[in-house]
Amino acid sequence: MTIATSGSLAELKQRIESRQARVGIVGMGYVGLPLALLFSGERFQVTGFDIAADKVATLNAGGSYIVRILPAMIQEAQQAGFRATADYSEIALMDAVIICVPTPLNEYHEPDLSYITGTVKAIAPHLHEGQLIILESTTYPGTTEEVVVPLLESGNPRGLKVAHASEPTGVHVAFSPEREDPGNDTVARHDIPKVVGGCGLVAAELAAALYGSIFRRVIPVSSPSVAEMTKLLENIYRCVNIALVNELKQLCMRMGIDIHEVIDAAKTKPFGFQAFYPGPGLGGHCIPIDPFYLSWKARQFDFSTRFIELAGEVNINMPRFVIDQLAEGLNQHKKSINGSKILVLGLAYKRDIDDLRESPSLTIIELLRDKGAAVAYNDPYFPTVGHGRHYALNMTNTPLTNLGQYDAVMIVTDHSTYDYKAIVAQSQLVIDTRNATKGIDAPNIVRC
Ligand SMILES: NC(=O)c1ccc[n+]([C@@H]2O[C@H](COP(=O)([O-])OP(=O)(O)OC[C@H]3O[C@@H](n4cnc5c(N)ncnc54)[C@H](O)[C@@H]3O)[C@@H](O)[C@H]2O)c1
Repeated sequence: MTIATSGSLAELKQRIESRQARVGIVGMGYVGLPLALLFSGERFQVTGFDIAADKVATLNAGGSYIVRILPAMIQEAQQAGFRATADYSEIALMDAVIICVPTPLNEYHEPDLSYITGTVKAIAPHLHEGQLIILESTTYPGTTEEVVVPLLESGNPRGLKVAHASEPTGVHVAFSPEREDPGNDTVARHDIPKVVGGCGLVAAELAAALYGSIFRRVIPVSSPSVAEMTKLLENIYRCVNIALVNELKQLCMRMGIDIHEVIDAAKTKPFGFQAFYPGPGLGGHCIPIDPFYLSWKARQFDFSTRFIELAGEVNINMPRFVIDQLAEGLNQHKKSINGSKILVLGLAYKRDIDDLRESPSLTIIELLRDKGAAVAYNDPYFPTVGHGRHYALNMTNTPLTNLGQYDAVMIVTDHSTYDYKAIVAQSQLVIDTRNATKGIDAPNIVRC
């Protein structure tokens, strides 16, 4: 897709191709920091923007706060010119700015766009003609054109406008969703195709050129809304299919069938089936949250997204379901949850990562405490856990010793560093919510 070039388009494309373009990434979190390293690895001058002073200081000292990003990787990027700042006036120096800030839900389960709007208001005064602004945060269709564009235009003191189909000059704006799968090392990040939708063809072409320099494949779509919806479709697809297997797991347990054996058999079909696995509930920044961005937006169109609501209902109930199985297991030993000592294995929302956002472990620990259990946890990625938006645990990691002291050990996150055979051998009762003990035959295991 190549269009007649305006001066600024040709110039910025040339700067991208020659790696002279300066790239600013706003939000140095799980998405923004790896992206900054990718651009830096391709010899771009990268500046990371973040409002968290401690993150800026750590990065500028050559350190890291994300386990899988080693300090040596930050230091290598620094040698290529990478630095971090909280000073938004430096946006003026950037040729392209990519926004990777959080998009959570508020207390009413509605989209909380305050991080996006806060960021856009902060960068708007520093825009310049021909600059490329890309939103990567997951959000509902319409955010880029209905929220970001008006704020960029109204916040710019020089009256700069966002370029569009019939007026191709100004500031160029696009949306491109992040599609990372944390902890999944089977696909290199630059091999994940990058979907891009621009406000006008110039924005689309510039964004495709920028991402084309670090991703092997760019998938242009006709608008930011299509790109926004693409990301939501991907996540809703996962959310709905996980709910399906979570429901079927409950039925299979009643019928005395092992759902994992069923899934393993079904996935031998060479077409038309993709395996999803049941668990103790959804976690992470994306799957438990993003679908509700769409169901909220759908209401504006008098539309009810019933699959999303039903999947949410099933998935949200899973922590309670596995606690019911724990109660049943303790009951077999003539014990109750109230007064029992329970060790929860794994705080992270999934295997081998250091992210506990929306983790079902947090809900499970809180529910168990409410029921009168004395709860401890072990997770090699979290020496301590304090409090967050939705939890207040204030606990310290417990070593994996003397497991016999616990009335039950509950496997909530199946980190690969755990020796499950030893855990089963030393524990009175093991509640396995992840099929981590597959292949171990022991009477003290409850798989759920
Ligand atoms: N983590 C993932 O695996 C993943 C995958 C795909 C998409 N996403 C989406 O990407 C977006 C970012 O997610 P994340 O996991 O990187 O979040 P994160 O919380 O790890 O990082 C966000 C960063 O933005 C910073 N920030 C917040 N407001 C800011 C502002 N006004 N200016 C500058 N910095 C600001 C925070 O301090 C933080 O460092 C979200 O929309 C998320 O849904 C995340």
